[in-house]
Parts: sequence; structure tokens; C-alpha cells
Amino acid sequence: MKRLGILLSGRGSNFEAIARNVQAGKIPAEIAVVISNKPEALGLARAKQMGLETRFIPSKGKEREAFDREVAAVLKEFQVDLVCLAGFMRILSPCFVREFPRRILNIHPALLPSFPGEDAQRQALEYGVKFTGCTAHLVDEGVDTGPIVCQAVVPVRDNDTAETLAARILHEEHRIYSEAICLLLDDKLQFEGRRVLGK
Ligand code: GRF
Repeated sequence: MKRLGILLSGRGSNFEAIARNVQAGKIPAEIAVVISNKPEALGLARAKQMGLETRFIPSKGKEREAFDREVAAVLKEFQVDLVCLAGFMRILSPCFVREFPRRILNIHPALLPSFPGEDAQRQALEYGVKFTGCTAHLVDEGVDTGPIVCQAVVPVRDNDTAETLAARILHEEHRIYSEAICLLLDDKLQFEGRRVLGK
């Protein structure tokens, strides 16, 4: 059985969607450990309630690489095959990324490469695009720049606020994140430069 490591900092709804699909047998893997850099993260509390292994690793006041080394050590201890960033509000250092080649996934609430970084739903709304969406992508050494595994398109409505748009996008995030996990675990994808083929 493949083993997932989840990193989160907050609400954890993507984590919960993954956990539900694991429980339902829709993702052929188990969640080995859930790690948060925030003690108050709702996702961490939910993971504990579910009886999963959890770790709080403080990031505050720590050098980026020192924190990343601690996280990597826990992921190795739990023999994680795939690292899933689920609302993890930290940029990972190149040495962390190199520890898990093509084995770190992230979900971003926009159609990358449009609207990277924070507040992507508001960025899309203010720009005036008619469609936005979400992207499940591999993590490379940049911010929201890694190869794209899955995307979903979401229309922007005239009466949308950043909140209503975010909610509609989130619904799709929950679907495509699990899809991307399954594709990666299956080991059948091919990589040609930035392109991820074989979906
Ligand atoms: C999601 O919008 C995700 O795309 C972004 O952070 C948010 C996390 O939400 N990376 P949740 O903690 O999974 O509910």
C-alpha cells in the first residue's frame, strides 16, 4: 500500500476530501501522517479525530531549511511515497524538493500559470476573467510553477464575490486533487519537459 504524507496549515478541506476518498477505497493508498506548522490548524484537529498520525512542527522563528529538514525527516520516518500539500502556507526550499523528486503535489485555486501566489480567486475576479479554476501540479523549486497534472475550469459569474467564487473552485479542488494523487500513484504518467502525459 502506498503511503501519503499530508502537509497543511489551516482548514484542511482538501485533506478531508482526500481522507474520505482513501476511506472509500477510491485512492489506493493510506494516509501515513498529517503534518502542520500551525498548532491551531483545523485540519490537524480533524486528522487527530480520525485517528491518523499527526505531527505539529513549528515553523515560526526557524530558518527555512532547518524547518524543511525536520519535515523531511518525519516524512521519511513514516516512509511516505507521495507528499500532498493541502493548504500548506510555506514555500519549500530546493533541498526539500530534491528529496522527493516528482513526489510532491500541490493544489492551487486558479488555472496556472494565471494567478499564482496568494489570493488567487480574488486576483481572477479583479482581473475580470470569465473562467478560472484549479490546478493540481507537481512542486518544483518555484512558486506554483511545477508541471501540471490536472486542471478543472470554473465559470466566473457576474454576481460572484471572492468568497462565492472560492467556494465553487473548492468543490472542483476536492475532486481533482484525488484524481491527481491516483494518477501519480499509478506510475503510468510520462514526463516530457513540463508536460505530464498519459492522463
Ligand atoms: C485551497 O484553496 C487550496 O487551493 C490552497 O489553499 C486552500 C486550502 O484550503 N492551496 P483547505 O485548507 O484545503 O480547506
